[in-house]
Amino acid sequence: MADTDSEETSFDIYDYWAECRRVQPVGRFGGDESDIWLVTRYADVELVLRDPKRFSSRINADTMGPVMGTVILAMDGEEHRRYRNLVAHAFRPSALARWESELIAPTIHRLIDGLAGRSGADLVAEITSQFPVQVIAGVLGVPSEDHERFHTWALDMNKGPDDYSLSTAASAAMREYLTPIVEDRKAHPTDDLISDIVTAEMDGERLGDEHIYGFLRLLLPAGAETTFAAMGSCLFALLSKPDVLARVRADPSLLDAVVEETLRWETSVTMVNRETTCPVEIDGVVVPKGVSLVCATGSANRDESRYTDPDRWDLDRHEPAHIAFGTGRHQCLGMHLARMELRIGLGALLERLEGLRFDGGSTSADGGAATVGPPTRIEGLAFRSPPHLPVVFDSVRPSPQARADPEA
Ligand code: HEM
Repeated sequence: MADTDSEETSFDIYDYWAECRRVQPVGRFGGDESDIWLVTRYADVELVLRDPKRFSSRINADTMGPVMGTVILAMDGEEHRRYRNLVAHAFRPSALARWESELIAPTIHRLIDGLAGRSGADLVAEITSQFPVQVIAGVLGVPSEDHERFHTWALDMNKGPDDYSLSTAASAAMREYLTPIVEDRKAHPTDDLISDIVTAEMDGERLGDEHIYGFLRLLLPAGAETTFAAMGSCLFALLSKPDVLARVRADPSLLDAVVEETLRWETSVTMVNRETTCPVEIDGVVVPKGVSLVCATGSANRDESRYTDPDRWDLDRHEPAHIAFGTGRHQCLGMHLARMELRIGLGALLERLEGLRFDGGSTSADGGAATVGPPTRIEGLAFRSPPHLPVVFDSVRPSPQARADPEA
């Protein structure tokens, strides 16, 4: 994933990318002197991500390494294959099935239970910022009650080179927090993912701490922040279209389409980085050897040569798949988990929050408390999400478990 993000600015990144796709789909990013190149069309992004020999992931070691340590996102070839395989089994659909009932559903229902007796909430503060981080904490085997710390560390680490003192401090704090847990699992492995990682062997030897903490520093934020943002964008799309929201509530089988169309329209991770290992011609433009190449997956997902009216969120779109999870050897390891969380999380919210709708906001002319209205757009550059989602609802239905066993 790209290393940098910036404060919200007044310009819309999608307008900028649309102009790039039209005028200069492969070019220097930010001026003629720049050493960073940008690729914006779907076909070109796909070409780069599927050709690891000419487009290396090593660049991520420069940008992420100082903060995250040794991570698979920065590995190439055989090294990448072997380290990825150490954890890949845990993220296969067959392995994830157990998390659906043991972790994902209980987590979202517990969060919704917290809204009982209320008629309004900010779904970002109270649901989306807490749900995926608690799930990935559970998968890894760290106490989910510490999720607020993980969330803060993840946000700070994502600042990467933009603010090294903040991002490296967060990285050190996370390691310090994880150390007793890692040491405990080395001595007493359980059935969680940390135990898998600390007991994994490479050439007959267990992984060193550098690799262990590299995995953990990557998996916690990668599993939490991306899905948190995607869930917010799914809700933003649905709440902005009450007629579609009603359709999905009546037919939850449409949730998969909600998730896929939102990932196409507003992916949470909009750019991934590569480095050229030789001069390469892309779309008639020669990109020199050794430059950083930003692949704008967010732009590729709105390529007008692939999608009709690409800026429109359309539940009934039947067009080719998006590239929100990347493609090729580094394709998102957590994509099945992310899809499962989004489907279950959104389904539970729609089912239990009756009459769910945006809170239109109010002014405080009478001296009473004003409320913030719905956001008008999704914000961010490399990572995108709605800043808040103020909603009102008529009532909170009990969880399926409470309905089945009212005495529990
Ligand atoms: C909607 C949510 C998500 C989005 C949009 C997303 C996006 C991406 C993208 C674009 C990549 C490719 C990076 C590259 O090619 O350089 C990636 C890789 C990765 N993702 Fe995700 N991701 C999401 C959720 C998750 C979750 C839930 C996890 C769980 C741990 C996860 C773990 C990873 C890991 C470990 C990699 C590195 C894979 C490798 O280098 O082989 N992601 N993700």
